[in-house]
Amino acid sequence: MEPQGGAQAANDGAMRDCRPLKNATSRKCNLADLRPRWYFRAFACTGERLLGADGRMPYNLTVNGKSYAVDVDGDIPLLWVLRDTIGLTGTKFGCGIAMCGACTVHVDGLPVRSCILPVAEAAEKPVTTIEAIGETPEGKKIQAAWLDIDVVQCGYCQSGQIMSATALLAANSQPTDADIDAVMAGNICRCGTYPRIRAAIKQAARG
Ligand code: FES
Ligand code: FES
Repeated sequence: MEPQGGAQAANDGAMRDCRPLKNATSRKCNLADLRPRWYFRAFACTGERLLGADGRMPYNLTVNGKSYAVDVDGDIPLLWVLRDTIGLTGTKFGCGIAMCGACTVHVDGLPVRSCILPVAEAAEKPVTTIEAIGETPEGKKIQAAWLDIDVVQCGYCQSGQIMSATALLAANSQPTDADIDAVMAGNICRCGTYPRIRAAIKQAARG
């Protein structure tokens, strides 16, 4: 499948970081070679080391109404900072290339794929994650409907589903089936909970 949009950008970044491979003739390429540099940086550092290390605070993040000064490289995806640096692990890693929606959070009120959004682009903007989405009117309705209809199966995709569904309801208080399908198509559920997701969004829309 050909990556699109943000996924293409993510892959471009990976290839740029792997440029030395183009001149390599004597060694085989392996999967580790194709990972972008931030992958190693993110896993090489503990959250404790990254947060406020050596007194530098290059990025100020506002997540769920709280301020965080984080000392990280600006090209590390927001997802790693949320999970590994700040410790908000409700947002999940799925594909890492903007194809599954598991990592969806809101930045400036809009749903974004945090696995490809450089943290520098989220600085100074309000970020909302699954941990606080229930504090918004739409998020509260969505979560209540999710529980009522018992949407969740394994649960792995569900924080991303709820973030996308909440953004939909905030933009469109009475979404049609077509609206729901169009917006939620980017969130993959391997357990196939799509019918219950659609029913829960409609129930939330009814209030
Ligand atoms: S982990 Fe971000 S879209 Fe899949
Ligand atoms: S509930 Fe299992 S992947 Fe969606």
